[in-house]
Amino acid sequence: LVLVLLCMTLAFGSLIDDVKQRGVLRVGQDAGYMPLYGTNPDGDRIGLEVDILKKMAEILDVKLEFVVVNWDGIIPALVSNKFDIIWSAMTITPERALRVNFTDPYLTVGQIILYNTNKYELPPTEEDLNDPDVKIAVQLGSTGAEAANRLLSEAQIFMFETIDEAAFQVASGRADAMIFDSIYARFMAKKYDQLEVTEDLLTREDFGVAIPKGDFETLQWMNTFIQWIKTTGTLQELQDYWFVE
Ligand code: ARG
Repeated sequence: LVLVLLCMTLAFGSLIDDVKQRGVLRVGQDAGYMPLYGTNPDGDRIGLEVDILKKMAEILDVKLEFVVVNWDGIIPALVSNKFDIIWSAMTITPERALRVNFTDPYLTVGQIILYNTNKYELPPTEEDLNDPDVKIAVQLGSTGAEAANRLLSEAQIFMFETIDEAAFQVASGRADAMIFDSIYARFMAKKYDQLEVTEDLLTREDFGVAIPKGDFETLQWMNTFIQWIKTTGTLQELQDYWFVE
C-alpha cells in the first residue's frame, strides 16, 4: 500500500514536488541570448535569467541543471519532459499558450531592427527594409521571424537556428538587418561597432516562464516567485547589473 501511495504521489504530485524530490530543477534554454543567458569561456551558464534561476533553486533547495535545445524545438521538448520549465526569454503568445501554461510576465520587450551601419548611415525604416533587395536575418521559430514575415514580406528573409548566427550575418555584412527582441539587439549593438539599433519598437511583448499545462500548484508557486523578485527589487538589481544602456 505504501508503495502504491508513493507511486500515486509521484504520478499526481505537482512539478514543484517532483523537483524537490529529485533535488534538481531542469531548465530548458537555447544556446545563448545575452545578457539573459549564455555560456562563459569556462562553460558556466551566466546572465540575468541564470541569476534569477539560481535564486529560485536556492529557495527550492535544489540543484540547477540547464538543458540546451534548439529554439524551434523547445516547446515539444518541455511537453515530452526533457526538462521542467522553459525560462528562456520566451514571449507569451496565445498560440504557445495552447501548448504550455505561462506565468505572469517578468520582462517586457519589443521587436527592434538591428542593422549594419556600413549599409545604412541613417536608421532604416520599415519601408526601407520592406524591399526585395534587402536581406533580413531572423531566428527560426522566434517572434522576430513572425514580425519579419508579417511586416517585411517583400524582403528576403533568412532563418537561423541561433540568434548569434543571425546577428553575425548582419555584423559581417551578409545580411542588412536582423529583427529581434530589443534586449539582445541592444546588447549586440553595444558589442559590435558596425551594429546599431533603431529607436522605435515594432511590437510589444511580455516574457513569461512556460511550464507543462494543467499544474495549478506549480503555476501558482512560479507566479509567487515572480511577484517576489519584482517587489523585493531583486529583478531591478539584476537589470541594473546586466542591461546595457
Ligand atoms: N522572445 C522571442 C520569442 O519568444 C525570441 C526568443 C527566442 N530566442 C531565444 N534564444 N530564447 O520568440
